[in-house]
Amino acid sequence: MTAAEHYAARVEAVLAQRRRLRGVEPAGDTFGGLPADHPLLEADPRRPLDANLQSLADLIEPSDTIVDVGGGAGRMSLPLALRCRSVINVDPSPTMGAAFVANAKAAGISNVELVQDDWIAVSPPQGTVALVNHVTYLTHDIVPFIEKLERAGTRRVILTVNAPPPPSWNRKLFQLVHGEAEEIVPGHAELMNVLWEIGRLPDLTMLPPQNVRYIVPLPNRMAALTYAVQRAANEQWAHWPATPAFEARARAAVEQHFDDLFAPGADGFTPRWIDLGREVLITWQPGR
Ligand SMILES: C[S@@+](CC[C@H](N)C(=O)[O-])C[C@H]1O[C@@H](n2cnc3c(N)ncnc32)[C@H](O)[C@@H]1O
Repeated sequence: MTAAEHYAARVEAVLAQRRRLRGVEPAGDTFGGLPADHPLLEADPRRPLDANLQSLADLIEPSDTIVDVGGGAGRMSLPLALRCRSVINVDPSPTMGAAFVANAKAAGISNVELVQDDWIAVSPPQGTVALVNHVTYLTHDIVPFIEKLERAGTRRVILTVNAPPPPSWNRKLFQLVHGEAEEIVPGHAELMNVLWEIGRLPDLTMLPPQNVRYIVPLPNRMAALTYAVQRAANEQWAHWPATPAFEARARAAVEQHFDDLFAPGADGFTPRWIDLGREVLITWQPGR
């Protein structure tokens, strides 16, 4: 099996397991179910740069046009738009797109454009840097996806993924709820193997631990239970409503293992099962 075939097989295994356990993904916006205050949707473009975003900003030049592939609500590229010529966000999600436009407007950022489309389908806009943050985990045809990045970002391609990948952050919970091991989406190792296979030699940097906002104590037992059931439902990026039967089963599993899943403290109950790990920066200059 080639590295690209292995990558596709990982994606297929995850989607097949998800279909079997959670049913077919409803048509429409994959990210339509995110709450408005989700950290992916709500991020002030004028916030001080954290260390990880600073690492990306260090690779950007004032004359750059960034093509942000799957840019979502502009969590990463809107702060960068303040430091370069322009940003073009290519993202098919209407929910993400609306948040991108609203976040840009609220921050007074006008050098940005939204192309509401899928990267696999779109004729790539011309930029100097292609930016891809947390998009590749369910990308079946990874080689054409990467080749298109190089056409859009002629000066540099910048990719980040998390280790472990966010769609599998709840793998311990998944095992308890479903009684089987979760199929894990491809991450940095699978991506690097594909890049090496096609002759690219990127730089890889493990960025500092971050994302503390993703794990907060839940104020009481009921809130903790509801949170865990929601995390179980959204695992493998199944961002659609769970059936009452799934919720009942997940609630029973969480109740049974509550003391293993949550650490009690003065602020409430903190989830123990999520390993946020580290963000991984992968970057190269096409043609060099
Ligand atoms: C987890 S979000 C990340 C958003 C943003 N890059 C960030 O880091 O905040 C993944 C985004 O990728 C988008 N996406 C997934 N597959 C895509 C594709 N084939 N082409 C373009 N965007 C895609 C989704 O719509 C979603 O907005």
